[in-house]
Amino acid sequence: MDESGLRTFVEGLPKAELHLHLEGTLEPELLFALAERNEVALPYPSSDALRAAYHFADLSSFLDLYYAGCTVLVTEQDFYDLTWHYLTRAAAEGVRHVEPFYDPQTHTKRGIPFETATNGILRALTEGESALGITSRLIMSFLRDDPPMSARATLESALPYDTLIAAVGLDSAEVGHPPEEFADVFSLARARGYRVVAHAGEEGPPAYITGALDSLGAMRIDHGVRCLEDPALVERLVHDRVPLTVCPLSNVRLRVVPTMADHPLRHLIEAGLLVTVNSDDPAYFGGYITDNYLAPALALGLSARDLVRLAVASFEASFLGTGEKAALIADVRAYAETHGVGW
Ligand code: HPA
Ligand code: ZN
Repeated sequence: MDESGLRTFVEGLPKAELHLHLEGTLEPELLFALAERNEVALPYPSSDALRAAYHFADLSSFLDLYYAGCTVLVTEQDFYDLTWHYLTRAAAEGVRHVEPFYDPQTHTKRGIPFETATNGILRALTEGESALGITSRLIMSFLRDDPPMSARATLESALPYDTLIAAVGLDSAEVGHPPEEFADVFSLARARGYRVVAHAGEEGPPAYITGALDSLGAMRIDHGVRCLEDPALVERLVHDRVPLTVCPLSNVRLRVVPTMADHPLRHLIEAGLLVTVNSDDPAYFGGYITDNYLAPALALGLSARDLVRLAVASFEASFLGTGEKAALIADVRAYAETHGVGW
């Protein structure tokens, strides 16, 4: 398959997206429209000027812009619009199931009620299922550079939402904020029935991955690419089939790796890890899910069959039930066979 054939193939490939920050899907055009609607002043004259500023030295330089962008999100309708924009784009790129993050504290600390963000997002996700056929499980992610008691307060705010929020996560600036600090709040979250994921081993050391597993009870690791520095940890992740939600374009844009040709995706796959490919913050990192499959495929020489396996892994690594997984994996298989790609 040539590049354009591969792109078309990937766009139609049924897949799940398991590492996606809804606030990271805020495209400059929507950001400007919401700023106008809410009368929020921006330090850039236009959406093009803002996009031109998207050059990051590391995770924290990205987060500065990402949190500044979030200030335009004010009303429930804003959160609905944000989520709906993402869902329509995802549907056009073959996403059949999504487990998105949002950061409630980013909004509550600006005075936006927990309910405002949550209700807007949930309304769009519900409509995404009925109108676009995309199922979802929402993950509320705690900010690791805010005190654990703020995460605890957020967990309390979520009480009325019962089963509407499926999981808790941990994100924001990683280095200097080890998972162990959040052991108590995650223990309470687990007791309340939440599933647990955590960002670890993006910029932070492999010990943060081990910490996320042991102290937080994480069942899936977001990023996790630095596990390769610890062979015993790789063995454990393989043995326990702990999924990694890898985000190739993010890793290049945030300089976790120098170029796509240096990305460890192939090594992770060859080590036998349950690897998935995802888009993280696509409005900031130059591509949605298709580009995140395609860029490493081209740079590392992955085959269409490798990409089919990544799509299968995305459903296996999801929170869906056994029957739902089997049905979606059967769809992947049928799609691959229709396109003459071996299983
Ligand atoms: N890493 C950590 N925290 C984040 C990210 C990320 O890529 N995006 C949004 N919050
Ligand atoms: Zn992330």
